[in-house]
Amino acid sequence: MQIVDINCSKKYQIRIEKGIIENLGSILNEYSAVSKFCIITDKNVMGIYEEKINHVLLKCNSEIIYYVIEPGEKSKSGEAYLEILEFLAKNEFTRTDMLIAFGGGVVGDLAGFVAASYLRGIDFIQIPTTILAAVDSSVGGKTAINLKAGKNLAGAFHQPVMVICDSEMFNTLTKDVRRDGFAEVIKYGIINDAELFDKLSENVDIEVIIKKSVLAKAKLVEEDEFDTGSRRLLNLGHTFGHAIEIAGEYRYSHGEAVAMGIMIVSKAAVAKGYLAKNDYDKIKNLISSYEFDLEPEFTAEKLYEIMLLDKKREGKSITVVVPFAIGDSRLVKLKLEEAKEYLVEGLKQGAQWM
Ligand code: GLY
Repeated sequence: MQIVDINCSKKYQIRIEKGIIENLGSILNEYSAVSKFCIITDKNVMGIYEEKINHVLLKCNSEIIYYVIEPGEKSKSGEAYLEILEFLAKNEFTRTDMLIAFGGGVVGDLAGFVAASYLRGIDFIQIPTTILAAVDSSVGGKTAINLKAGKNLAGAFHQPVMVICDSEMFNTLTKDVRRDGFAEVIKYGIINDAELFDKLSENVDIEVIIKKSVLAKAKLVEEDEFDTGSRRLLNLGHTFGHAIEIAGEYRYSHGEAVAMGIMIVSKAAVAKGYLAKNDYDKIKNLISSYEFDLEPEFTAEKLYEIMLLDKKREGKSITVVVPFAIGDSRLVKLKLEEAKEYLVEGLKQGAQWM
């Protein structure tokens, strides 16, 4: 088993092992004060794992109830959130009971926000079932739901008490969902782990990739749990990527949009003289090797207009994460017109060095 310890306002473990889910009953028995667990999951995950989970939980000494949501981003709504709170109240959940978020990013964000706010906060465990959730959303305590005005606009920082990651579960993921997770893994390599970046071109065990990614994230979460400083490096590729998601009305997945966002900011960083062409080529080759589309169909003008509404904007400026080398990305505060130049440079077609 690979274990990563997270030391922020709450200390917790991320346990990564093939088949660890078989031990879920005995892991839950470690929480002897808990009389009820509520597993929050979605219909897809339930369809695949219902039998297995019911079987492994025969060993659990506490009562288990389920709350199953519709799969997909639409479930991260205020309505879905309130319904779960009412469900917990109806089932007489108390402060010593616990939630389990069993699923991908939508389940984790929604269940996490329920845990953050029900009775002003109860404990929860994350069991990510996608690579993206395992390396990113299940770690670090960001929880949220969407508002009509945008993604993740209501939420809280609420750390889980444990993250249980069964890498065997990733075998059931479709190629596209798997690839989405790797966009975030590549991101960690470019931010602060050149060794992880190099390993991604080799055929390395998924557990090692997950452990290294989680360590890269843990370092930033421990330094800056509440996202006012270095944690913002995790936004590499996200400012422009988020604009691409919105411009495309979500027909690009998050991973595809982040991969394109990384390409735009990297290309602009070469044009600005920050990033060596050789490193840019390595980034481009690695992202291409995962079969990501690299060229969004939007103009700089269109993405700029959307970027103006980004929640990371600070008045007349916006902080963008810029790669200076593989393993060395930095926060650069740009005036809005400078950010537009990045988009123009990053989207330039047919430049000599492409
Ligand atoms: N997903 C970015 C963060 O956790 O800060």
